[in-house]
Amino acid sequence: MALTVVMNIDRLLTQLTIDEKIAMLTGSDTWSTVPVKRLSIPSVVVSDGPHGLRKVKEERPGQDALQYPAVCFPTYSALAATWNDELAQQMGAAIAGDCIDNKVDVLLGPGVNMKRNPLCGRNFEYLSEDPYLAGRLGTALVNGVQSRGIGTSLKHFAGNSQEVDRFWVNSEIDERALREIYLPAFEKIVKEAKPWTVMCAYNLLNGVHCSQNRRLLFNILRKEWGFDGIVVSDWGAVHDRVESLKASLELEMPYCKTSFESLKKAYEEDRINEYDIDFAVEGILRLVKKVSEAADLRDKVKDTTDDRYNVSKQVADEAVTLLKNEDEILPISKKIKKLAVFGLAAADPTIQGGGSAGVTPIRKSAPLDYIRKLAGDDIEVVYAPCYNQMTLTSILEIQNLPAALNLAYEADMSLIFVSDTIRTELEGFDRNSIRLQPELEKMILQLTAVNPNTVVVVQAGSVIDMSEWFYKVKGVVYSWYLGGAGGESVADVLFGKVNPSGKTAETFPLCLEDTPAFDGIDSISLCDTDNDGSFGQGAYPCAYPGNGKVSWYREGMFIGYRFYDTWKKEVLIPFGFGLSYTQFEYSKLKIVQDENTARVECKIKNTGKCKGRETVQIYVRPVQPYVLRPEKELKGYVKVELEPNEQKTIKVELDERAFSYYSMNDFDWKVDKGYYEILVGSSSRDIKLTGKIKM
Ligand code: GLC
Repeated sequence: MALTVVMNIDRLLTQLTIDEKIAMLTGSDTWSTVPVKRLSIPSVVVSDGPHGLRKVKEERPGQDALQYPAVCFPTYSALAATWNDELAQQMGAAIAGDCIDNKVDVLLGPGVNMKRNPLCGRNFEYLSEDPYLAGRLGTALVNGVQSRGIGTSLKHFAGNSQEVDRFWVNSEIDERALREIYLPAFEKIVKEAKPWTVMCAYNLLNGVHCSQNRRLLFNILRKEWGFDGIVVSDWGAVHDRVESLKASLELEMPYCKTSFESLKKAYEEDRINEYDIDFAVEGILRLVKKVSEAADLRDKVKDTTDDRYNVSKQVADEAVTLLKNEDEILPISKKIKKLAVFGLAAADPTIQGGGSAGVTPIRKSAPLDYIRKLAGDDIEVVYAPCYNQMTLTSILEIQNLPAALNLAYEADMSLIFVSDTIRTELEGFDRNSIRLQPELEKMILQLTAVNPNTVVVVQAGSVIDMSEWFYKVKGVVYSWYLGGAGGESVADVLFGKVNPSGKTAETFPLCLEDTPAFDGIDSISLCDTDNDGSFGQGAYPCAYPGNGKVSWYREGMFIGYRFYDTWKKEVLIPFGFGLSYTQFEYSKLKIVQDENTARVECKIKNTGKCKGRETVQIYVRPVQPYVLRPEKELKGYVKVELEPNEQKTIKVELDERAFSYYSMNDFDWKVDKGYYEILVGSSSRDIKLTGKIKM
C-alpha cells in the first residue's frame, strides 16, 4: 500500500524557509521537482509524451537519448481521425498505466495546439484544425490519464502553431481568433477535465513571452476559467524567472542554475514579496499533495502491457481513413490471386514523428507481415521495397524500378506504401513542402501506369498534397502515424477484417498555395537565406512562417475548413471526410429549440452489407450574420456503430456557446438574434439534413 502523505499545506508554508521556497520554484533536474526532505516533501516526476510514455533512461550527447520501452499509441492526428471520445479516454488511461509502471507522476501531454498550417512539424502531435473536436478529445484524454492518479500537462499554452523560430517568434493573434480558435480547446479541457498542470509555450503571444504573460496565465487561465492547477514552463521557456513568477508561473523546468539567485535578489530588493513566492510554492505543494493522494488509484491499476497494446490497436483500427475506393477495389477480394506490395514503408513503417514525443515502442507491427498472414495460401504476395530509408537530407532514389514494374504488371493488384518519414515531421522543424518526395510521386505514377488496380497507403502525421497522383489510383488509405499496432490495423482494413471509420480532422488542400496562412513566394524568400537556422529579418510581417520575429495570424479565425468553406475554395479532401465499406442513410431531422440552445435529433441507418461506424457531424451556420463569421462551424458529433439494416436515433445538445461568437464590443461571448441553420453531415461538405431556427 503506497504511503499517503497527509500534507498540511498551510503548516508547511510556515515551516519552509524562504530559501527552501525559492529553491522549489525551478526543477531539481530535467524531469523532477525539488524535494524538501527535512519536511518529508517528496519530488514529483514528470515525463513525455502525448501518445505514449517517453521516459529517458540515459541522455547520450549528440544522439537520441536511451528511453524505456513503452506502448507507442497512434499519434494525435490519428487519434483525432477516430472522433471517438471513449477511445481517447481509454488511450489516456492506458498510457497512465505505463507511467505508473515507470514511476512517473505527471504525463507531459496532451498537446492541443491548432493546426494553423499543414507545414508545422508537430502537427502529428496535435489533434485538429477545429477547436471543438480538439477540446472534446483532449478532455477525454486528460480524464483518462487522471482517472488513474497520473497528472497531465495541457500544452503548449498558447498560440504555438509553428516550429520555425519557436523559441522567439511572436504570434500576433487578434482577440477573436484567439478566443474562437486558439484558446477554446484549452478552455474546455481546463473547465471540464481539470488538468493538474498547464504547460506554457515557448513563443510570445501578442508581444509577451507566454512564460511571463500575466494576461494569459492569470487573467484568462485562472480568473476567467477557474484553473486550479499549476503552470509549468516548457523546457527552457522562462526568459526572466522574476517576471514569470509575477505572471503566476509556478514551476520553471528544467533546473536553471541562475533562477535561485535572481529570485533571491528580487526578494531582497522587494521587487517580489513572500506572497508572490507563497502563491507559487502553495501551487507546487498542491501538486505534490495530488500525487500522494492518488497513490490508491495507482495501486488499483492491474492492466498489462498487452492490454495497453490492445487499446492502441483499437485506436489504430478506428484511425485508418479511407479516402478513395473506386470500383470498390477494397477490401481486397478473394478473387485476387497475385498481390504486389511496394515501398519500404510496408516492411519498416513510420509509426510516429520525431522529438520529445518519440516513444521507444515495446512492440511494432509491419503491414507487410500482416498482409502476408491475412493473404494466407489463397493469395500470392510479392514485395519490392523500391527505396531505402529516407532522411531529411538525402534525396531518395528508387532502386530496381524495372523489376518492380514487372511485378506490378504481373499482379492482379498493387499496394504502394509511402511515408512522410520521421525526418520530415518532427519537433523543432517545419516541413518545407506538403508533397511526398518527387521520387515517391514518380514511383506511384509509374507503377499505376503499369497496373491501374492500385491502392496507395500513406503514413504521415499531417496532411499531404496528393493531387499529383490521387486521381490516377483507385484506392487511397490514409494511415496517419499509427504507433506500434498500425501494421496490423492497416492489414485488417485492407482485407476487410476492420471496416474503416476514420474521418480526417484536418483539411487536405489541393496545394500549399491554397492554405490560408500562405504568403506566397515573399514569405519563402524570408526563408533561412543565411542558413543559420532562423528566417531572415524580413522587411514586413507575414503570416507564415513570419519574418523571424513576428508570425502574423492575419487569416484570423479562418483556418482549415473555416477558410476553405467561407471562401468557397476547392479542396482535395474536406474536413470530416472518410469512407466506409458500407453506406449510411440519414433521415428525420428534428430540432427542439429552448431559448439560445437546441436539441438536434436524426435517424441514421446502415443500408449496406457489413457492420460499420459512422460519425454524424453537426455544424452551425449563422444566416447573414451582423459580424464576420466562418461559413459554418462544427458544434457537435456522435459516432455510432450499426449492424446492416440497423437504425439508431442520435441526439446532440447544442449549448449557447454553439451559437455564440466572441464580441469585441462586449468583450464576451454573444448570441446575435437572427436565423441559424443546423447542418447534419457525413463530412463538412457532405451535408445530409438541414434545419433552421431563429434566435
Ligand atoms: C519540449 C516540448 C514539450 C516537451 C518538453 C519536455 O521542448 O516543447 O512538448 O513536453 O520540452 O520534453
